[in-house]
Amino acid sequence: MRADAGPAAPAVLRLPGHEFGTVAADLVQGVLSSTSRPVIGVATGGSPSPLYRELAARGGDYRAVTWFALDEYLGLPAGHPQSYAEVLRRELIDPLGLDPRTVHLPDPHAADPHDAAERYEQRIADAGGVDLQILGIGRNGHLAFNEPGAALDSRTRVETLTEDTRRANRRFFPTLAEVPTRCITQGLGTILSARRLLLLAQGPAKAEALHRALAGPVTSDCPASALQLHGDVTILADAKAAALLP
Ligand code: GLP
Repeated sequence: MRADAGPAAPAVLRLPGHEFGTVAADLVQGVLSSTSRPVIGVATGGSPSPLYRELAARGGDYRAVTWFALDEYLGLPAGHPQSYAEVLRRELIDPLGLDPRTVHLPDPHAADPHDAAERYEQRIADAGGVDLQILGIGRNGHLAFNEPGAALDSRTRVETLTEDTRRANRRFFPTLAEVPTRCITQGLGTILSARRLLLLAQGPAKAEALHRALAGPVTSDCPASALQLHGDVTILADAKAAALLP
């Protein structure tokens, strides 16, 4: 490698959607079997669901694993079915039989959410950092809830959701008015600190974002372009999501 060569480009695996679960689960299990106290970062949203279903179907012993969520809404009552704590309980904790104490999320009910965000960043560091971070991508190029304009070196913090993201997540709520306006999210710098990244992207709504993320300049305008700064990124993309890639 040349001395001035940058990080290795993200590896894009083009797959039919029905293979996402098995390929992603193989990657996760590879990390679990090669690490004594693995730390896995988990995303919510539709993209990682096939992975969680596949892990649940395979069974396994997850007692040594620590899990960290990417983000959490602010402003929902405790136990709200669309809080990410509840989503992860339904999609990950219950199906995989995890001890809920091993699955961490930012605390949206803390008296000071800014403190909660800082504490969360510290908890990730105290756990030794994330070995593998699972990611989806927003159609505006967001990662976690790092919206366009987020600093590439940002850490876990309180953020405001864009209208575009609120409309994209409207499908999970009875009305748009009920979609929260604020959240606590891992920063782009936090995500880039994970040792390995795995992003799942399916469907035509992700094509432009994926193209900007991988083929465009590294810029806060497209938060997912930060992936180009990390040397160990695997992307699973179906034909529609990969349609605009070279
Ligand atoms: C959400 C989440 C992200 C997720 C993204 C894509 O708003 N905060 O973590 O990756 O949007 O969601 P989906 O996978 O449902 O398309």
